[in-house]
Amino acid sequence: MRHANTLTAMGIEIWVRRQFADCADTTASVLDPKGLASEIASCTRCKLHKERTQTVFGVGDLNAELLIIGEAPGAEEDRLGEPFVGPAGKLLNSMLGAIGLSRQQVYITNILKCRPPGNRDPKPEEVVQCTAYLARQVEMIQPRLILAVGRVAAQNLLQRNTPIGKMRGQRYTYGQLEVPVIVTYHPAYLLRSPREKRKAWADLVLVKELLQGESIS
Ligand code: URA
Repeated sequence: MRHANTLTAMGIEIWVRRQFADCADTTASVLDPKGLASEIASCTRCKLHKERTQTVFGVGDLNAELLIIGEAPGAEEDRLGEPFVGPAGKLLNSMLGAIGLSRQQVYITNILKCRPPGNRDPKPEEVVQCTAYLARQVEMIQPRLILAVGRVAAQNLLQRNTPIGKMRGQRYTYGQLEVPVIVTYHPAYLLRSPREKRKAWADLVLVKELLQGESIS
């Protein structure tokens, strides 16, 4: 507390992690996860709503330190309403397990909340419509670290066309909160290219080190 008072006296803004259980009173429309989920569930901002079974909001701990952002729901995710539940999801779970984290301890979502037909890449006009939803999720969760999995997630989140191989190992930030971002390969790509798992492992070690550090910047 004394430390906090000193920082305040120095004019340094203190960023206090929000606990969801205690935040029923404040700016509810922005910070209410159920409200946001139901807004997304009825979204018709792009054509993807016509073909979806359901929207896929996200899963995990809303107070998580680590937020994982993938590309978009696939067929299984569209059917079950949960991100990363297919084969790529199983590998993602194992990758998390390798650094001592369970799926329940992190939060997982995607750039797009609806499935692009045939698992094609998201179109720019679809990403634009979904961006504000993701920004609100980040604002709600206020993670200490974001792990962007795959080229589509990384390039859209960080607004650049850099190849994923060049983004790995770098630290970026996202949004006004300047949440640190690390990039790794998509688990679906790793299933097709198992030799690249070694690089993904290095990325996960970096994630673990950053989460264990006092501050990430
Ligand atoms: N791939 C993604 O990027 N997201 C999912 O939810 C599933 C597969």
